[in-house]
Amino acid sequence: MAKARTLLRPAEHIDVHEDDIKEEDAEETQDESMDPLEESGHTVDSSDEEVEDAVQEDMARFEETFVGINKRFRLINRIGEGTFSTVYKAEDLEYKNYSNSWDIDERENTKWMSPRSRKQSSRKPHYVAIKKIYVTSSPIRIFNELELLYDLRDSDSVCPLITAFRHLDQVVAVLPYFQHRDFRDYYRDMKVSDMRLYFRSLFTALKAVHRKGIIHRDVKPTNFLYNTTQSRGVLVDFGLAERQGTDWHNCACDLTDEDRHYRISHSVYAQTQAAGTSYPKNDTRSSRRANRAGTRGFRAPEVLLKCTQQTCSIDIWSVGVILLTMLSCRFPFFHSADDIDALLEITTIFGRKKMRETALLHGQVFETNVPSYSEGGHSLEKIILWCTGRTGDKTMPKKELDEEEKEAVQFLYRLLECNPAKRITAAEALEHPFLLKAYEESNSHERVIFVLLSRRNLRPYTTNLPSQQTATGTSRPSSAMAVAQQWPHLHRHFPVVIVVPVVIVELVLLSSSTLKHLLPYLKAPMSSKGHRLLVQRPQSSACSGVTVQ
Ligand SMILES: Nc1ncnc2c1ncn2[C@@H]1O[C@H](COP(=O)(O)OP(=O)(O)OP(=O)(O)O)[C@@H](O)[C@H]1O
Ligand SMILES: [Mg+2]
Repeated sequence: MAKARTLLRPAEHIDVHEDDIKEEDAEETQDESMDPLEESGHTVDSSDEEVEDAVQEDMARFEETFVGINKRFRLINRIGEGTFSTVYKAEDLEYKNYSNSWDIDERENTKWMSPRSRKQSSRKPHYVAIKKIYVTSSPIRIFNELELLYDLRDSDSVCPLITAFRHLDQVVAVLPYFQHRDFRDYYRDMKVSDMRLYFRSLFTALKAVHRKGIIHRDVKPTNFLYNTTQSRGVLVDFGLAERQGTDWHNCACDLTDEDRHYRISHSVYAQTQAAGTSYPKNDTRSSRRANRAGTRGFRAPEVLLKCTQQTCSIDIWSVGVILLTMLSCRFPFFHSADDIDALLEITTIFGRKKMRETALLHGQVFETNVPSYSEGGHSLEKIILWCTGRTGDKTMPKKELDEEEKEAVQFLYRLLECNPAKRITAAEALEHPFLLKAYEESNSHERVIFVLLSRRNLRPYTTNLPSQQTATGTSRPSSAMAVAQQWPHLHRHFPVVIVVPVVIVELVLLSSSTLKHLLPYLKAPMSSKGHRLLVQRPQSSACSGVTVQ
C-alpha cells in the first residue's frame, strides 16, 4: 500500500485497503471494453462548452456527492462515457499552486514569452480531464490503472496522471486535458501521409509502454486521442492494462516447433481423430482460461484463442486493425458478437489454412464447416479494393492501389501477422520504411524558421517549431536543425533585405491555422540586430486517392 501512496501528491492519498485486494476471477463483463459503435469519444474542442441539461444535472450530482471537488475544479462538460468511467473536462482552479511538469504545452508556449506575456498566460484557464471511475470497478483494477499510469508518467505520447482523489467509494483520476478530434470525423479523409504521422505518434507511445513491459490491451481509436492539427496524439485508458507475464501459464506457442509437433501428435484431439470420432466422449480436461480483456474487433487471434502467454504484441495487432480501418474506410472493420464470430471474421481474410496453423500454435484446434471461407483467404490489397469499391463493376471501373497505399499495405502485413512471435514490435515499426517516410515528409512540409542569433552562432528555435513532435519525444533532429547544421554559411549568403520580403509573401500564403502556430515564433526576439528569418514554402503533399464510401 505504501506504493499506492507514493503515486500521489502528499495530501492526496488514495486509501486502498489491503483487505480489499484479493485475487478474483475477472468477470466477462469487466473484460470487455465498450463497443466501438457505442462509444462517445466526441469531438472535443475548447469552445465546446454548450452543456446539455442532463449533463448539467449529472455534473451537479457529481459535485454534491464528491465533497470538495468543486474547490479544486470547475466542471465544464462531460467529454466521454466509457465502460468503466465518465470523463469530464474541468478547469484546474489550483493550477498555480502546484508544479505542473506534465504540462508540455505550457512549457513550450511560455519558453519564448516575455515576463509580461508569461504573467498574462498564467492567468488563463488550465484544463484537465477528470476520470470518474465507476464504483462497480474492482479496487484492484482501479489501483492497477493508477499504478501503471504513474509508472508511465514520463513516457512519450502517453497521457500522464496528474493526481487522483478518493471520496468514500468514489475514485477520480485527474489527467491533462488533451484536445483531439473524434476518429469517426476524420478517418475517411486521411491521406497515407496523414496515416504515417498518426502511426508514428501511436507507435511512439507503444514503444514507451512496451519498454516498461506493460501491455495496454485496449488499443483502439477512442483510446488514442489524436490532434489532427498538431499531428500528435496521446494514449489513454490503462484500465485493462497489465504487466507482461502476469498470470502466465505454459502455452504451446512457447515451445520449439519440434516439441509442439510432438505435443499435438500425442494430444487428446489426435487420439480422438485416430479413433474415428470427432470429439472425446468423456472429456475430463478443465476449460482453458486466459485474459481476454479488450474490445471486440481489436483482439488479436492469440487472445481469441486463449493463449496463456500473451505479450505486448497483442497491442500491435490492434494497431493493425486501426490501419485496416483507415485504408478500407470502414469503421468498425470487425464487428463480431463473440470470440467465435471474431475468429471467423479473421478467417474471412486469412483463410482456413492460416487459422488452423495459428490455432495449433497455441495448442488449439480450429475447424469450420462453413463453406464460404476459402482455404487460402484473400490478400489485404484485395480486401481494401473491395471495401473502397475499386474492384470494378458496371458502375465503377477497376482501379489499383496507388504506390503510397501499397507501402501502407506492406506495413499492414507486418502488423496483422497471425503469429505474435513474427509480428513487428513497436520499436521496429518506428524504423519501418513506412513510418520513416513520415520524417522525410514532415521535413519537406515543415515551415523552417531560422533565427540567426549572431554571426558566430546559428541557433534555430528548434524546440518550438510547429510540426516538430516534441510531445512524441522523437529524437530525430527537425529539418530546421538539420539544415542549420548543414548550411552554416546561410547567414553569410542571405542578407536581411532579401529574406524579409520572402517572409511577407510566404506568410500571406500560409493558412490561418499555420499562422496561429507561427505567431509565437514571430513574437520571439527576432527583431534585434543580426536576426534573420527564413520561411520555406512547403511542398504540396501527394494525394492517396482512397475512395470514400
Ligand atoms: N485526457 C483526456 N483529454 C480529453 N479527453 C479525454 C481524456 N481522457 C479521456 N478522454 C475522453 O473520455 C473517453 C473515455 O475515456 P477512457 O477511455 O479513459 O475511459 P473508459 O471508461 O475506460 O473507456 P472505454 O472502456 O470505453 O475504453 C475517451 O475516449 C476520450 O474521448
Ligand atoms: Mg477508453
